[in-house]
Amino acid sequence: MAKYIINAERKKNKINREIYGHFSEHLGRCIYEGLYVGEDSEIPNTNGMRNDVVEALKEIEVPVLRWPGGCFADEYHWREGIGPKAERKRMVNTNWGGVVEDNSFGTHEYFELCRQIGCKTYINGNVGSGTVQEMSEWIEYMTFDGESPLAQERAKNGHSEPFKVDYFGVGNENWGCGGNMTPEYYANLYRRYQTFIKQYKHTDDEKIRRIACGANSNDYEWTEDVLKTLFTHCDPRAHGNTEGLSLHYYTHPYGWDDKGSATEFNEKDWYQTMAKTLYMEELIRRHSAIMDQYDPEKKIGMIVDEWGTWFNVEPGTNPGFLYQQNTMRDAVVAGINLNIFNHHSDRVKMANIAQLVNVLQSVVLTDGPEMLKTPTWHVFHMYKAHQDATLVDSYLETETVGVEGVEVPNLTESASISADGKLQITMTNLSLDTAYPVDVRLTGYEGTAVSAEILSEEMHAKNTFEEPDAVHSKPFDGVELVHGGLKFTIPACSVLHITVE
Ligand code: AHR
Repeated sequence: MAKYIINAERKKNKINREIYGHFSEHLGRCIYEGLYVGEDSEIPNTNGMRNDVVEALKEIEVPVLRWPGGCFADEYHWREGIGPKAERKRMVNTNWGGVVEDNSFGTHEYFELCRQIGCKTYINGNVGSGTVQEMSEWIEYMTFDGESPLAQERAKNGHSEPFKVDYFGVGNENWGCGGNMTPEYYANLYRRYQTFIKQYKHTDDEKIRRIACGANSNDYEWTEDVLKTLFTHCDPRAHGNTEGLSLHYYTHPYGWDDKGSATEFNEKDWYQTMAKTLYMEELIRRHSAIMDQYDPEKKIGMIVDEWGTWFNVEPGTNPGFLYQQNTMRDAVVAGINLNIFNHHSDRVKMANIAQLVNVLQSVVLTDGPEMLKTPTWHVFHMYKAHQDATLVDSYLETETVGVEGVEVPNLTESASISADGKLQITMTNLSLDTAYPVDVRLTGYEGTAVSAEILSEEMHAKNTFEEPDAVHSKPFDGVELVHGGLKFTIPACSVLHITVE
């Protein structure tokens, strides 16, 4: 019997809803086909955005959407994506398949998409191949509400009201595709570029939150050197120069060279994938420790703006499009990561799974007019209960599971109190063959009713266009309210969400 102690009296911090955020890049069939089909498409759409996809995204309450990349961001020139579509300049998408990008989805279309989804905006600017002037003018074009040539141009292009930019990333992966820079060089560029991200609005809510490019996985030196440079000789009147520092970490079981199949894997591959996923915990802890030295008050958020599984592309698809299927393995990976983010939500202020549609670990896949929700979508649907909830103290006794020397803890969890006062518990069972009885000792919370939902299938289970609903969350009536807590048995290979009220 696994002992699980939840002390609801020990309230910690708010779990920022942005932890449940997403990422959409001009890559493969994410933007075009996946999200945007154009007004003239036969696929039902509103102002060019697919109605079925927008509906699915609203159901999981997507809180924030990062755009336009990724690597694409550092070769994106915003002026090419505004104005009459027929006149927009075409470009080669050098990072992703060398396809021609017609720029029909640009700034106005992005804000329209976010309006329809009802989410916050996170735009990633171009440092790698763009100028300070270009970035500064983009900010003015989007957010200035007085009279200026750029604000007038925005109005001429159909939007007299300023757009609201909630987050702005100054470059992406500038240690790699964003310019192959050293940390000191990037950090100095960051200081310069961010100076010209003008705050045309002044209330705290209207402020654009600036995000600096953080580390690739375990590059702790990057974090240290960037922060050291950002904190050296700061203008005391500037009140700090960043609100966020990013972290990118993808899960692939054995390494970049052969990332393995998304759908054909054995038990060892499963546990290896779980072990690689759990490494996120160490990454957050160690990068946080460095951030704590510079920013002990945790004013700078850790922004995990690219995470998720990255496998070999589906056979027969364009290798530059990064299209992969999604199974129960992805679902458990998502559940583990989200539990880790919840536990570290004093520092992790946003996370964006890569990517929204048809690329890497997507929540939605499309094929022409068809759309399906992946197992990962169902995890986001269950975990949305944690958005803006208050994390509470919890401790779970675990044991080790695995095969052939690959060992991981059997269970992960997190617990919070949502705004409506209910206790929300999420748990993953990483074991492929063992169900575990769990004895929950609950302090500081008097539960009178309980409900639960579960995603539990064989490890390869997936949704296909022939069988789009093969994997979906179901009501789970195995949770019993007992004196002082709860009792239940979590099935093997599953993700569980319990609500106590
Ligand atoms: O998500 C795919 C790519 O992965 C992004 O463009 C890049 O930032 C990262 O390397």
